[in-house]
Amino acid sequence: MKYCKDFIVVENQTITSNLFILKLQYPETLPEIKAGQFVEILVEGNKDVFLRRPISIHDVDYKKNQISLLVQIVGKGTDKLSNIKEGDSLNLIFPLGNGFTIIGKKVLLVGGGCGAAPLLYLTRVLKEKNIKSDILVGCRDINHLFSKKEYESLSNLHIATEDGSCGIKGLVTTHKILEEEFDAIYCCGPTPMMKAISKIAKDKNIPCYVSLEHTMACGFGVCLCCVVETNKGNERTCTTGPIFLSSDLKDF
Ligand SMILES: Cc1cc2nc3c(=O)[nH]c(=O)nc-3n(C[C@H](O)[C@H](O)[C@H](O)COP(=O)(O)OP(=O)(O)OC[C@H]3O[C@@H](n4cnc5c(N)ncnc54)[C@H](O)[C@@H]3O)c2cc1C
Ligand code: FES
Repeated sequence: MKYCKDFIVVENQTITSNLFILKLQYPETLPEIKAGQFVEILVEGNKDVFLRRPISIHDVDYKKNQISLLVQIVGKGTDKLSNIKEGDSLNLIFPLGNGFTIIGKKVLLVGGGCGAAPLLYLTRVLKEKNIKSDILVGCRDINHLFSKKEYESLSNLHIATEDGSCGIKGLVTTHKILEEEFDAIYCCGPTPMMKAISKIAKDKNIPCYVSLEHTMACGFGVCLCCVVETNKGNERTCTTGPIFLSSDLKDF
């Protein structure tokens, strides 16, 4: 079931000059949301931003009926969203997409930059299911690290920064945690990073789930602008995905 509802902004937290977290209040009881699902946001007040913008659900608080979104400013839509204030309303279509398939007893989550957005809620779901998780987060520097306290409370956090200001210096692909045994890997971030991690998973003979940030228009299967080539034929990223088993993707 999909909903189209107004949420009220309860917080707009600046992380860096181009990264912010929106905490949004739902006026009713939140429906079930799967980790990895996303929302389509109506960006009002800019006639150049006609289409809704897809953003992953960063976290869910069922007790407060709140969700949070981590957003990176890349263009007019996300720039407009960055100026939204406490008390403003935002119209969302949600929850969209398939969400992560939860498997195994010990899993590894790997996130790069703001692409790691869906992984916080995934760590929460895994903890509730008593599945042990390690999360490896890669970012430019310590200032671009977000939700650290929350990750630490839900999972074993490992960090890689490009400048070495936190965790190891270098890319996530060089981190030693990747040498350990896991039942599955969940990966979100830049495509080259997801491809490199899925190759590591393939060598270990374990499944790797990746989240594709394909360009989208409608977000619910109508416009066909988000088609991706899979081993089973062309699929819509917004409905069959955005989470795919990397071995099912032609390009991976
Ligand atoms: C399923 C899904 C989940 C997403 N989750 C998040 C999230 O949690 N946080 C977040 O910050 N962003 C997320 N994105 C990306 C986000 O939707 C785009 O950055 C946003 O729509 C850009 O809108 P804009 O108007 O600011 O930029 P535009 O003016 O539309 O574009 C500016 C630049 O960004 C590029 N761009 C636009 N859309 C995308 C896209 N989908 N992927 C990569 N580059 C794009 C354009 O090619 C252009 O170069 C997600 C995308 C998808 C499909
Ligand atoms: S975005 Fe319209 S079909 Fe996927």
